[in-house]
Amino acid sequence: MTEPNSAASLSALLSAAARAAHELVDQPPHLLLDPDARALCTQFSPSPLDYQLGQPDHPVMATARLATTTRAGFARTSLATSGLHQCVLLGAGLDSSLYRGFDTGVWLVDRPEVLAWRTELFAQAGVADSGHPVPADLAEDDLVPALVEAGLDLDKPAFVAALGLVMYLTDSDLQALLGRLNPLAAGSRLAFDSIVPAELRDAAAQGYAAAIASSIGGAEPWHCTPHPDVLSDWLHTAGWRATQQVIEADWVPDAFWAANPGLTRNRLSILVEAVRSPEEERNRRRTDHHDRIGAGAGVR
Ligand SMILES: C[S@@+](CC[C@H](N)C(=O)[O-])C[C@H]1O[C@@H](n2cnc3c(N)ncnc32)[C@H](O)[C@@H]1O
Repeated sequence: MTEPNSAASLSALLSAAARAAHELVDQPPHLLLDPDARALCTQFSPSPLDYQLGQPDHPVMATARLATTTRAGFARTSLATSGLHQCVLLGAGLDSSLYRGFDTGVWLVDRPEVLAWRTELFAQAGVADSGHPVPADLAEDDLVPALVEAGLDLDKPAFVAALGLVMYLTDSDLQALLGRLNPLAAGSRLAFDSIVPAELRDAAAQGYAAAIASSIGGAEPWHCTPHPDVLSDWLHTAGWRATQQVIEADWVPDAFWAANPGLTRNRLSILVEAVRSPEEERNRRRTDHHDRIGAGAGVR
């Protein structure tokens, strides 16, 4: 049995526990099944899963579970409909639920120490993992050359997921990261979740944010919680066209809410899907944008 060491990401471990608990404490139809997460959690004593199983209805446990499984279910659905065969996880943590069962190459990006911890933990739990580790600090490092070095083919579009990551970056880090994805082929797809700013949250979401800030928030504080319109602008500027932007709770099927009346819909996060525009369209939009600014319009 292992204690989480100093290299561990507590948020990644709690996310794995949330995915593992979902099948055990929530009624079907489940948003996601993640047997790997369960195997990983049992390597710890006490297991992070125990907290979920001990108090599944506690608002913090229930919100964390719903947020984590919803974003993962959303991204799996997006990957399934994309038809793409290259999958990159930014801030991969301990997640394998996204790509498990798909015929796709996988690249796992996270801080070096977190990826080393992940590799050790998967081996210890006897869970096979097909992902290529690509160690990087997403706030600083130039990611795409490292992905290419690890085998990503830039001539083919890629599916890129960033689940539970955006809030740990700063606004400028996220914009820079979107810019650094520039070499990806047209038709690449991006799927991620983003916490909405405090003024758009309801009381339940605000209560969760406060609870996280006073618990694990010291080690992994939230920074980037942009307004959805601002996020759309950032995507647009970086050459991505948003194809979905939905409040997380609204993506969850009605049948799930009906089967789980004790769970609360909240306004904590949005789920975003975007597609990389072809180069001609990116150039045209850049020209339009400059023309609008030249004419004094379009400035926020
Ligand atoms: C909440 S966990 C989510 C993990 C996984 N995506 C999931 O849904 O289970 C956040 C992850 O982002 C990673 N992360 C945060 N900031 C990062 C950065 N600047 N560079 C690389 N990874 C980062 C953390 O190490 C952690 O694994």
